[in-house]
Amino acid sequence: MSYSKPIQMLVDEHEVILSVLDAAEAVANQRSSVFPADFYAQAADFFATFADRCHHAKEETLLFPRLQARGIPWQGGPIGVMLADHDAGRGHLAAVRAALPAARAGDQGAMETARQALLDFAELLRGHIAKENQVLFMLADQVMTAQDKAELWDGFQTAERDTLPAGTKEKYHALAATLRQTAGL
Ligand SMILES: [Fe+2]
Ligand SMILES: [Fe+2]
Repeated sequence: MSYSKPIQMLVDEHEVILSVLDAAEAVANQRSSVFPADFYAQAADFFATFADRCHHAKEETLLFPRLQARGIPWQGGPIGVMLADHDAGRGHLAAVRAALPAARAGDQGAMETARQALLDFAELLRGHIAKENQVLFMLADQVMTAQDKAELWDGFQTAERDTLPAGTKEKYHALAATLRQTAGL
């Protein structure tokens, strides 16, 4: 599959996110006697910052409005589904984070809540990424003009520079590698 330059950037970010989903699922399925609270906290930070604040923000503020301008409706179509997925993911992530203090303190129910919420998040985001890579992004490259794509690319650079502290992407790429290592991948 070949995408335009800005869309390829999103697909590349999906690959990093998927690599951390692999790690999250591996750890959540280990059921070790000691709850790995630090791993959960770091994974939640990765998903909230890299997946949501860096990646989903580009889709929601720059890509989707451009697609809407090219005739794809905001609601009742693929954009609406993607937005609903982003929101559902935020819900699962909030549940992981809310359960962490008690889980860290040894509460078995909270451990199970965090574990299940992380697995739910992973399943949701995997399906979401597949829909974007295989459906929405193909459609996006069909409806966007060459100028749209050039402006989107510029917009992505500006968004990263203006909304994230310098070095954020590098920091989270490194965290992704650490989390995979911790998970034994
Ligand atoms: Fe998305
Ligand atoms: Fe995405």
